[in-house]
Amino acid sequence: MSIDLKNLTRIPKHVALIMDGNGRWAQERGLSRIEGHKEGAQSVRAVLRAAAQAGVEFITVYAFSTENWKRPPQEVDGLMKLLISSLNAYEQELHDNNIRLRIMGQFERLPLPVRMRLQKTIDATAHYTDHTFIIALSYGSRTEIADAVKKIAEKVKKGELKTKSIDEQTIAEHLYLPDVPDPELMIRTSGELRLSNFLLWQLSYSEFYITDTYWPDFREEAFFEALEAFNRRDRRYGGIKKQEP
Ligand code: IPE
Ligand code: IPE
Ligand code: MG
Repeated sequence: MSIDLKNLTRIPKHVALIMDGNGRWAQERGLSRIEGHKEGAQSVRAVLRAAAQAGVEFITVYAFSTENWKRPPQEVDGLMKLLISSLNAYEQELHDNNIRLRIMGQFERLPLPVRMRLQKTIDATAHYTDHTFIIALSYGSRTEIADAVKKIAEKVKKGELKTKSIDEQTIAEHLYLPDVPDPELMIRTSGELRLSNFLLWQLSYSEFYITDTYWPDFREEAFFEALEAFNRRDRRYGGIKKQEP
């Protein structure tokens, strides 16, 4: 089935993706887990291209969670090296498509060579405004919210903020990327029905699209199918369906 983007009336401004199933994809083929991650990196490239084509402004991918540090050191190391080699291989595509790279998560916890390589591309793409590609790295939503609470408490202590004026907006403004709009669509591959500590605050009213497809098999067409499913959703935000007059 081929999808005609012209038929899609609503294109989400921000799509967030939980890229899951690399290990199972590899296991089914008798390959090592890192081979699955390598093939998964090609899917990131495909999704970025598809998003630019469809006019999606923000893409956030969950690449490494705070919990993923528990994985065997060999796999963690392989993932960090893959990040560097992927940036080397695909940076030109960010320039070609006017895509700005941003990172969300515990940047300081990443190995120095990874931080340096990331910073180079972050700086080189900082002036692009058409699209933003956000990689959630050493990211955990509960840590993000705890960090926000600390920043707010500090401001209250200094007298810069009154306790009674703290509202939803105050919390949102103290998250990692306060200027980025909440995702309208969240995609998770490989069929798991959970958030795994991803954007708990920001996904409050997002549409969820879960597919059984493993991340390495999730390419342009799969992304367009998700956009099409989003177009069929009826978003009510706690209200009621619009009545016919
Ligand atoms: C997702 O694939 C990539 C990361 C979490 C880094 P997994 O590695 O979780 O793959 P499965 O879930 O074991 O198949
Ligand atoms: C979620 O996948 C994290 C990323 C995609 C980076 P996991 O494979 O780590 O999540 P669980 O363990 O299935 O919840
Ligand atoms: Mg997984």
